Amino acid sequence: PRILILGAPGAGKGTQSANITDHFDIEHITTGDALRANKEMDISHLDLEYDTPGEYMDAGELVPDEVVNEIVDEALSQADGFVLDGYPRNLEQASELESMTELDLALMLDVSEDELVHRLTGRRLDPETGDIYHVEYNPPEDDDVEARLVQRDDDTEETVKERLRVYRENTEPVIEHYEEAGLLERVDGEKAPDQVWDDVRETIESAI
Ligand code: AP5
Ligand code: ZN
Repeated sequence: PRILILGAPGAGKGTQSANITDHFDIEHITTGDALRANKEMDISHLDLEYDTPGEYMDAGELVPDEVVNEIVDEALSQADGFVLDGYPRNLEQASELESMTELDLALMLDVSEDELVHRLTGRRLDPETGDIYHVEYNPPEDDDVEARLVQRDDDTEETVKERLRVYRENTEPVIEHYEEAGLLERVDGEKAPDQVWDDVRETIESAI
């Protein structure tokens, strides 16, 4: 299947993408992870506001389309089935994506704003495995894992606020776009992770 996963910062896109890729044996294409791995890349030739992706990310702003489009184009050309996470984030990217591939489904995780802030400020990552945890909702069982957990640079309260603003302004129109195209399925993302996964799996199974 070719699946798009949509939702605000902290909605659970990464968490559910891990379930989807395991279960359906497809690729996880995530612009956020790809950009984090290339935070220091020199993009000064574009002559824009900042000279590296990391500066945009730490400010909670979108990295320029030309940088992100190329990452996705390259990744899609190597993937058969995929779950695409973090892209498209504006209407220009959505129209770019249409020229790259077709989709079976756009899956939207619905979560309220208060809950998003709580999830993001409590998120922790395992730098060795990439596994996603939360200090309250999903703490690791292993003490060694707990000791090495890190917080994402953009999960500070101030940057989270800006990310949510950017989402409302740029990405909400993308949700409407897929709704109008008849590709959108909404899942209640506010339930417990396992329940969300049950709903996500069923929604994908009935779409493919
Ligand atoms: P990106 O990495 O895509 O961040 P995001 O969209 O802000 O989303 P997150 O990764 O923060 O949240 P998530 O939905 O994956 O939630 P998660 O599963 O981790 O992008 C980062 C930056 O990169 C952007 O700001 C931008 O600068 C740049 N960028 C990326 N793509 C771009 C693009 N296309 N164009 C331009 N710039 C781009 O879960 C969050 C927390 O909640 C975790 O702690 C988790 O354990 C917990 N949790 C998950 N599900 C549940 C649940 N059901 N109940 C309770 N807790 C839960
Ligand atoms: Zn994510």
